[in-house]
Parts: sequence; C-alpha cells; structure tokens
Amino acid sequence: MKFALAPQGSEAHLYYFLILTGQKRIFIITFAINSNPNVTRMKTIQLNNGVEMPALGFGVFRLSPAECERCVLDAIEMGYRSIDTAQDYKNEEGVGAAIKKCGIPRDRLFITTKVWISNAGEQRASLSIEESLRKLRTDYVDLLLVHEPYGDCYGTYRAMEKAYQAGKARAIGLSNFYNVRFIDIAEHMDVKPAVLQLETHVFAQQRAMRALIRDYGTRLMAWGPLAQGRHGFFENETLKAIGAKYGKTNAQVALNWLVSQDIMPVPKTSHKERMASNLDIFDFELSSEGMEAIGRLDQGETLINDFNKDIDLAQMFLGLKPWS
Ligand SMILES: NC(=O)c1ccc[n+]([C@@H]2O[C@H](COP(=O)([O-])OP(=O)(O)OC[C@H]3O[C@@H](n4cnc5c(N)ncnc54)[C@H](OP(=O)(O)O)[C@@H]3O)[C@@H](O)[C@H]2O)c1
Repeated sequence: MKFALAPQGSEAHLYYFLILTGQKRIFIITFAINSNPNVTRMKTIQLNNGVEMPALGFGVFRLSPAECERCVLDAIEMGYRSIDTAQDYKNEEGVGAAIKKCGIPRDRLFITTKVWISNAGEQRASLSIEESLRKLRTDYVDLLLVHEPYGDCYGTYRAMEKAYQAGKARAIGLSNFYNVRFIDIAEHMDVKPAVLQLETHVFAQQRAMRALIRDYGTRLMAWGPLAQGRHGFFENETLKAIGAKYGKTNAQVALNWLVSQDIMPVPKTSHKERMASNLDIFDFELSSEGMEAIGRLDQGETLINDFNKDIDLAQMFLGLKPWS
C-alpha cells in the first residue's frame, strides 16, 4: 500500500491520498485543511445576480492610506475576505497595496468601493471608477455603490451599469438611499441594486427598508454595525446578558444578530484583537428570546445620519455649509 500527499492552492489546502492496494485497486480520499478556521466558517449571502458575498466584512472608514494598508493586511490575516472602502475615504490605495501584498488570490477577496458625490454624473463617475480600479490595483471590484443620494445619481448609476456590463464590477448597488429615492432607482434603472448599504445596528434595525428592498432582491449591508459605540452600545445590559450565555461580547452578539438575518455588517477596528473577536461570531445561535430582546432595542430611527429628514446634513454633504 502506498500513500501520496499533495497540497494544492495557497488558502484551502486540499490533500489527497492514493491508496494502492495489492490488487491494484486505487482509492482516492480527499480532504481540505484550512489553516484559518474563520475563513471556512464564514457564511456567504447570494446576491440577486447570483454573486456570493461574505456575510461579514471589514470597514476602513477614517483610516489613513498607510494605516488602512496595515489594518487590511491584519484583517485578511485574521480571516476577513470582504473589505469595504470608498472614494471618499481616500484610502483606496491602502486597500490596493494590501490586496497586492496579502498573498490571497484576488478571486477569494470581495472588494467594495463607492462613487462619491463630487464624481456624480455618467462621465465623471466612469472616470472615477477607472481611478478607483487603478488605486485598488485590480481589474474589477466585487461591489460598486452610489455612496450618497445627492447629485446626478442616475448618471452615476448608468456609469456603474456600464462598468458592470464590462466586467469591471461584479455587482452594483446603493448606499444611504431611503424610501422614494431607493424605489425610483430600483424601478427605473436596468440593473436592480444588488445591495443597499445603510446605517444598521441594534438601535436602528431598518425594518421598513428591509421590507421595501426585499421586492427587488436587494440585500442589506450594515454600516456602523456597532453603532460607532454610541448610545452606550458596548455597555448595553441587554446585549451583555445575552452574551453572558455564550461567552460573547456585545459586539459579537450584535454582529451575530445581523448576520443571522442575512444582513451583512462591515465593522471597523484598527486593533488586531478586536478584528479577531468581531469575526468570531459563527459558533453560536441566538435563542428566539434573545432575538426578541434585541428587537426591543430598536429606536425606529438612525443615530448617526438621518438621510430622510436632516436638512443640515444634506447641506453639509452638498458643501453648502461646513461640517459641524
Ligand atoms: N455608506 C456609508 O455612508 C458609511 C458610513 C459610515 C461607515 N461606513 C462603513 O461601515 C464601516 C463600519 O462603520 P463605522 O466605522 O462607522 O462604525 P462601527 O464599525 O459601528 O464602529 C467602529 C468603532 O467601534 C470600535 N470598535 C470596533 N470593534 C470593537 C470592539 N470589538 N470592541 C470595542 N470597540 C470596537 C472602533 O474602534 P477601534 O478602531 O479603536 O477599535 C471604532 O471606534 C466603516 O468603516 C465603513 O466601511 C459606511
């Protein structure tokens, strides 16, 4: 009897044994050993065009390009495969450098970027998408979003549809589009938004928007999934009591709660141990009592940005008044 051991691929190592018996019968036994259990445990969500997206990603808002490169490399090492950046974060170069250095094949990563307001309109948006690809050092992004509902969003969306048809984006969608703004794009554009990214967390559960986007097969991606720590998030007693049952932190309970409903959070942290901890959410299931208790934390409105009613916010985004 002889054995052959053959590792393949740089991430999931596939081993196979050839068992040669005396009667010249050949048995092939294959099994995969993944060096990083967080990668194998990661749930994926199917988008409305069939693309599979990791349920949990890593956000890079407010990281300088250099810090961003370090954080994305750490995050990928920890097991994250989905990275959420934006033209406005001014750190796409950092993500691009990490993509090149990380040693993970490009098709195992899921990169999201967003077209900013100043690049609104078909022509400008098209040029800005090329610029994003150059900075990200890739031929395509996995997800391209209109970042904010201001300016010529229709032109921007058309540019994204063209990028999608040309294979420069595997899926397209929206960010911060509520109610009529969402419906209008979803009804009038050819490609239905695959993803809508909104401020979503235990205090802003987005029930109405979740019901609305379901009709278009649009998936919800959660920004600020830890409520940016506001409203006493990390000290919240309801989350603590639930977490105590499973030995989990408030962040882990809240992220598990999102993912269990097929909402895709992209928590941000610059600390490696928090990256690991925020990813360690796939080994427990919340009870129906836990789900109901978290349901009662909903304030029914956002804490950070109100794109429906806040006129000051709109004026600040449009440069009509300084940020306060
Ligand atoms: N589409 C949009 O308009 C939009 C807007 C905002 C954000 N986003 C995206 O969503 C991502 C996440 O949102 P966010 O960054 O605003 O907020 P967040 O992820 O809810 O919270 C991030 C904050 O929580 C802290 N933190 C993270 N994990 C922690 C843990 N386990 N324990 C204690 N503190 C922890 C981080 O601090 P440390 O870094 O010090 O750990 C940071 O201050 C962004 O990075 C961005 O990609 C999109």
